[in-house]
Amino acid sequence: MLEIKGLTANYGHITALQDISLDMGENEIVALIGSNGAGKTTLLNSISGLVTKTGEIYYNGENISAKTPRDVAKSGILQVPEGRHVFPGLTVKQNLTVGSIAWRGFKSADIEEDLERVYLLFPRLKERSHQLAWSLSGGEQQMLAVGRAMMGRPKLLMLDEPSMGLAPIVIDEMFDSIVKLNQTGLPILLVEQNAQLALEVSTKAYILEHGKITISGSAKDLINDSRVQDAYLGTRVV
Ligand SMILES: Nc1ncnc2c1ncn2[C@@H]1O[C@H](COP(=O)(O)OP(=O)(O)OP(=O)(O)O)[C@@H](O)[C@H]1O
Ligand SMILES: [Mg+2]
Repeated sequence: MLEIKGLTANYGHITALQDISLDMGENEIVALIGSNGAGKTTLLNSISGLVTKTGEIYYNGENISAKTPRDVAKSGILQVPEGRHVFPGLTVKQNLTVGSIAWRGFKSADIEEDLERVYLLFPRLKERSHQLAWSLSGGEQQMLAVGRAMMGRPKLLMLDEPSMGLAPIVIDEMFDSIVKLNQTGLPILLVEQNAQLALEVSTKAYILEHGKITISGSAKDLINDSRVQDAYLGTRVV
């Protein structure tokens, strides 16, 4: 479904990604794990067409590496940005509606149906539908950012650090929702610094270090890999 081959991205003389290859099948949650500055966001931005790069990105067999961000989004690949970026002065419902209008044009019957789908996954957003987004908690803002992407009816959802800045119990709720969303048949590319969490919910994972993929494999294998345990899980018994 998504296949990346030999992807390299530079910011001026800084190489942010080097020779990245990645494979993702239907219905998977694929985790991209790495510490600050590893290149995780750059990889999502490369897929979305937001950064200049070389290499190939195939989506359902089509090379999308030269597509504009708008065309990538139109093909069904939607990115929930790091830091959420909800519209602070709009209500929850208005934020969600913007998601719909931006991606699919205005059809009010569709919007109501899609709102219900978002509210079913995140009942808290329904309770707060008329609240201004700036006054939501961090967890609620993250729900809103995911909900806004859902309004675009994604076929591949990319989440950039959905756990960032949230309390453990709120993170658990968010990850439950991510799993539920995936169970509806939506493939998810999940960027996370929290390797434990990411490996618990994903099928497959890639570890990114200084712009290169150093370890990859099934989530199960990675949880038991001593290199991953040492560097990312802090669980190795010596
Ligand atoms: N617009 C930019 N201009 C120049 N350098 C950039 C730009 N964006 C990112 N970089 C650099 O590219 C590298 C990778 O950054 P990136 O944001 O992709 O990392 P990340 O893994 O998402 O980190 P974090 O976990 O902190 O979000 C870093 O060294 C960063 O300084
Ligand atoms: Mg990032």
